[in-house]
Amino acid sequence: MSKIAVIGTGYVGLTTGVCFAHLGHEVICADIDPEKVDALSRGEVPILEADIDRLLAEARQAGRIRFVLGATNAAAECEFAYLCVPTPQGDDGSADLSYVEAAAREIGPVLPTGAVVVNKSTVPVGSTRVVERALGRSDISVVSNPEFLREGSAVSDFLNPDRVVIGSDHQDAAIRVASLYVGVPAPLMVTDPASAETIKYAANAFLATKLSFVNGIAAVCEAVGADVNDVVLGMGYDQRIGREFLRPGPGWGGSCFPKDTRALARIAEDAGYDFKFLRGVLDLNDEQFERVAAKVCDMVGESIEGRKIAAWGLTFKANTDDLRDSPAIEVLKRLSEQGASIRAFDPAVHGPVAELPGVEVVADPFLAVDDAEVLVVLTEWDEFKWVDLDKVADLMRRRQVLDARNLLDRSMLVRRGFNYRGIGRS
Ligand code: UDX
Repeated sequence: MSKIAVIGTGYVGLTTGVCFAHLGHEVICADIDPEKVDALSRGEVPILEADIDRLLAEARQAGRIRFVLGATNAAAECEFAYLCVPTPQGDDGSADLSYVEAAAREIGPVLPTGAVVVNKSTVPVGSTRVVERALGRSDISVVSNPEFLREGSAVSDFLNPDRVVIGSDHQDAAIRVASLYVGVPAPLMVTDPASAETIKYAANAFLATKLSFVNGIAAVCEAVGADVNDVVLGMGYDQRIGREFLRPGPGWGGSCFPKDTRALARIAEDAGYDFKFLRGVLDLNDEQFERVAAKVCDMVGESIEGRKIAAWGLTFKANTDDLRDSPAIEVLKRLSEQGASIRAFDPAVHGPVAELPGVEVVADPFLAVDDAEVLVVLTEWDEFKWVDLDKVADLMRRRQVLDARNLLDRSMLVRRGFNYRGIGRS
């Protein structure tokens, strides 16, 4: 079993640390935020992530995980140092590498001889070299080991991945990183750093492409009177297409897809290739926010100014409390700008949302719909399916639902006199 330092305890770092400890390694996680370090040391998990509390408790009890302030305190005794710091979007769409470089510069002087530095942050192609330079150590190998973790199911994605990708020019370092994954049932591929880094961007951009395509198909379905739910079912039976990631919605968001898709377009441009198609994928997503907002306006009729709208869902998808680049926020921003009076409910959001200053966030789904003219469903939370529709019908001023996730039972709503509209279906 190995000694692993994890630098950064965001959802990628924390999941990586906890899962490696679960696999039997000795893990020290570092962060720059003292409050976070204290909370994690007490076993308190700051993110909504299935199973992570349980695995953290087990690892703490077994003495296999510790949390410390500052990267050097974690890196001084490690055999592997995983960089899991953020790579936010820079002003020009490219990924900002300053946190990765700063972390590498900080741990460079203290890493034991022969340690391996592993990049898990999503970094532009060529960043392995940047990390090597920032470390300033010829005895340290740098390996790229991108993450493919979905928020909400990150633990299960880590322990049962579709694949593990390792990119390195040093075969011995790649083999050492591969050995950390003993017990993980997945194909493991070793490639060069540039290919490993490109795999991560290409995978995310492809999934985003699939979603923009499906949202485009939904628009076609509306125009020709087809039902997108049946269309994607029929498409998904084709094993070359697959059933996953074919649900239309209000657009895609989250901390990865928008940032990584823009970054790949930028990487291509910098490398002299104009990836027009990818820009189209991004444009289609912005269009989708507009389309959903326009549908709400259409259902209200005339001006939306001062009209009461209810929203269910604020997070970028269900089973997370993450609001970063949430399609729900994009749609509500557009409605708010046109003067709509909005009340929103989300099971994971308590209190106001900074990007939506005019929107009142309420504590239950009924308060949101009270006196509203349209209810717009923006996140696919399971619990929305079980809300008492008779009560919703009684409370609303007009019985109208725009189901931007095609989540609710259309016939149950129609039976109660609702004007129901979905995405890609009437
Ligand atoms: C994503 C990738 O899936 C993961 O591999 C990567 O490492 C990080 O980015 P995540 O951001 O957690 O994970 O979200 P994901 O579950 O992929 O969903 C992204 C967006 O697409 C959400 O807004 C979601 O609602 C939307 N989506 C997803 C759809 O609209 N329809 C679908 O069928 C699937």
